[in-house]
Amino acid sequence: MRKPIIAGNWKMNNTAKQGVQLVNELKPLVKDANCEVVVCVPAIDIPAVAEALKGSNIALGAQNVHFAEKGAYTGEISADMLKEYGVKYVIIGHSERRQYFGETDETVNKRTLAALAAGLTPIVCIGETLEERETGKTEEVLDRQITEGMKGIDDISKIVIAYEPVWAIGTGRTATAEQANETIGYIRKKCAEVFCPKCAEKVRIQYGGSMNAGNCKQLMAMSEIDGGLIGGASLKSADFSAIVHYDEQGLKLNKDLL
Ligand code: 13P
Repeated sequence: MRKPIIAGNWKMNNTAKQGVQLVNELKPLVKDANCEVVVCVPAIDIPAVAEALKGSNIALGAQNVHFAEKGAYTGEISADMLKEYGVKYVIIGHSERRQYFGETDETVNKRTLAALAAGLTPIVCIGETLEERETGKTEEVLDRQITEGMKGIDDISKIVIAYEPVWAIGTGRTATAEQANETIGYIRKKCAEVFCPKCAEKVRIQYGGSMNAGNCKQLMAMSEIDGGLIGGASLKSADFSAIVHYDEQGLKLNKDLL
């Protein structure tokens, strides 16, 4: 069975001090979580947050990684540098990086393969823009992001996929649970086709885009949705911990029973 994974993407928020304060608030609130809990923090927060997370059930994630092992790449951070601080997960190909920092399926692919080779678990983000959805191109875009961005991955179940429709990020406009479930089902089907059916059954696929304490239980009740990648609502301990405890909100106590 796929273990649900709730990850916070702090984006460019929280200084190291503020980050430590946030995780110190979070630790007791999520200590009994049934799902995997991750916080993906700004690179410069990593040393302090790693220290604060010691002995807790919260895993540490980064928001990007370079594809080279080392060398003349001013401003970049390697997988080994992340690993030395106990980083386990790394977000790759977030739509904000694709939109503002020239990230392409090719660079996503290189970063993903480098992260896997170093033993990190990539959280690879894919998703369509509003225009692409409205012009019926969603599947075409996802197909390209999967075949190009995930090319050469031996075992797709070693990554986490985050489906984040760009139009739902930071807009307060969430995909309906049915929409998200249907699209994530499509992503799984495509992974079965491109990789292998068994791996596709195992790979965890998160939903991301305005997920919050109010809508998480409905989203998480869907059979294809294995977790969330949370932006805004991961910045407050009460909101994020409520999402982590989606299973105690009444709808679903045990995903295996569905
Ligand atoms: P919001 O939850 O703020 O919409 O952001 C989603 C996201 O981009 C997570 O990576």
